[in-house]
Amino acid sequence: MGRMDGKVAIVTGGARGVGAADVQRLAEEGAAVAIADVLETEGRALEAELRQAGHEVRYFPLDVTREEDWAALVAAVLDWKGRITTLVNNAGIVNRTGITGTPLDRWNRVIGVNLTGVFLGLKHACPAIRDAGGGAVLNMASVASHVGHNDPAYAASKAGVLGLTRTAAAEYVDWNIRVNAICPGVIVTGLNAGGAHLEPWRRATPLGRFGTLEEVARLVLFLCSDEAGYITGEDIAIDGGFLAAGSARRISLEAGIDLTAAE
Ligand SMILES: NC(=O)c1ccc[n+]([C@@H]2O[C@H](COP(=O)([O-])OP(=O)(O)OC[C@H]3O[C@@H](n4cnc5c(N)ncnc54)[C@H](O)[C@@H]3O)[C@@H](O)[C@H]2O)c1
Repeated sequence: MGRMDGKVAIVTGGARGVGAADVQRLAEEGAAVAIADVLETEGRALEAELRQAGHEVRYFPLDVTREEDWAALVAAVLDWKGRITTLVNNAGIVNRTGITGTPLDRWNRVIGVNLTGVFLGLKHACPAIRDAGGGAVLNMASVASHVGHNDPAYAASKAGVLGLTRTAAAEYVDWNIRVNAICPGVIVTGLNAGGAHLEPWRRATPLGRFGTLEEVARLVLFLCSDEAGYITGEDIAIDGGFLAAGSARRISLEAGIDLTAAE
């Protein structure tokens, strides 16, 4: 028995990185998974690889910022499997310029993908999830949802995702849909590989390493599965202790305080 048997999931940005790991984990646990992404070549390659391994996955084109794409995706997935139970709003982009140096069109693009894309996903997929008797939505936020970041458009969009998550949880409880978010620290992917901030970030992380795709996918799986049936409107950090203990850890290290020293 798989933990997602009978479920039909959409994973946006599912062609690579964190999204691809989520697709694989959900499919391994028995879900039929729609890989929804602008990257057709990568999406079709992942589809072929996972089908070869015996999983039920299919690539669908989707630009999360286009409402007509969402309507077409939901119709196509219903045509494919007859129901939708699960939505992982994972697609995301970064910008990495300060407020003064950010052109308005780039600000709008980041907000469009990272925040408006989540709004459109909820708007279009949740009626179908209701029709399936309920299910779960997982929104990919970030540690940047909670603390300042060197990418203002990204931080603002990811903070907005938490507001949307809590609001959607209240709205969709009547449809038996749970809505949660997770806040990863650094997972090295195409989004950030080669970034100058990576090594300092690793040092600022109490566990002293980056997270892995598998670790994130396991949390996504849990929150999407019925095992998380009493969790909604929540956001969970998966960040090696960065948010909760990073400052205390750095201060102790800089001050030369050995927290584990015997009395
Ligand atoms: N990697 C990290 O350290 C990290 C940390 C915190 C949060 N996140 C979040 O995790 C999510 C996935 O990031 P990743 O690291 O896998 O990045 P990635 O760049 O490897 O993957 C992002 C995916 O989103 C897709 N995408 C981008 N714009 C899209 C659009 N308009 N419509 C549909 N798909 C689109 C891309 O094609 C790609 O497949 C993002 O929301 C990101 O903000 C990542």
